[in-house]
Amino acid sequence: MSRVAKSLALAAAVLLLPACDLGLPAGRTPHREFNRLDMADQPRLKPQRADIFGNRPTGMMEPPQGTVAMTEHPYPFAQNEADKAGAALKNPLQPTPEVLAHGKFMYENVCITCHGPKGAGDGLVTQLFPKPPSLMTQKVRDWPDGQLYHRPMRGQNSMPSHARQVDERDIWSIIHYIRKMQSENPVAPPPVLQTAAAPGGKS
Ligand code: HEC
Repeated sequence: MSRVAKSLALAAAVLLLPACDLGLPAGRTPHREFNRLDMADQPRLKPQRADIFGNRPTGMMEPPQGTVAMTEHPYPFAQNEADKAGAALKNPLQPTPEVLAHGKFMYENVCITCHGPKGAGDGLVTQLFPKPPSLMTQKVRDWPDGQLYHRPMRGQNSMPSHARQVDERDIWSIIHYIRKMQSENPVAPPPVLQTAAAPGGKS
């Protein structure tokens, strides 16, 4: 090969090299689609972004209706089926010191605001919120555990459902703790029926 031909070949190689890179800048460019040089830069679902075909953000789609996570146990009883829950559900936990401690912890974090430190229905929130009846009444003492379980799961009148704040273990532990309070405190008289209890109303 002549010297001229060699230099021409070299020049062509030098000129062509960067051309191979055209459209594919090296390095991590996470905000660029179609840059396949890095594994991190591959097409994938990203939250709040349309997919590569411009469709609506599939990364944000809710699971299909009725999907149940393997760790979830859907609660089978409707709001007005407290009796059924009472008959069917059994407390799977024993009132060990750990369970009682967990029940106390959860009660004092979730329920105490309305139901008060001893379940008397005099929590701080009741200065503004309808007062719940005492959990120390004979009625609640006679309820099977499943009836007590039903209230935080489904709510009752002005008490909203607490199913998102507490899980199964939490509620069963709280019930053991409520039973413990019942054994330590006098029986409360049946509640006086509050008519049209409105938030803030003291009438
Ligand atoms: C926002 C305030 C509030 C919180 C928090 C709350 N409750 Fe209640 N709860 C109420 C009210 C108010 C009632 C009475 C509802 C009604 O009018 O029937 C009630 C009723 C109940 C009853 C039925 C009592 C009866 O005699 O009918 C149970 C059992 C109960 N709650 C348990 C719990 C447990 C357990 C927790 C914690 C996981 C909890 N509640 C958290 C306000 C609350």
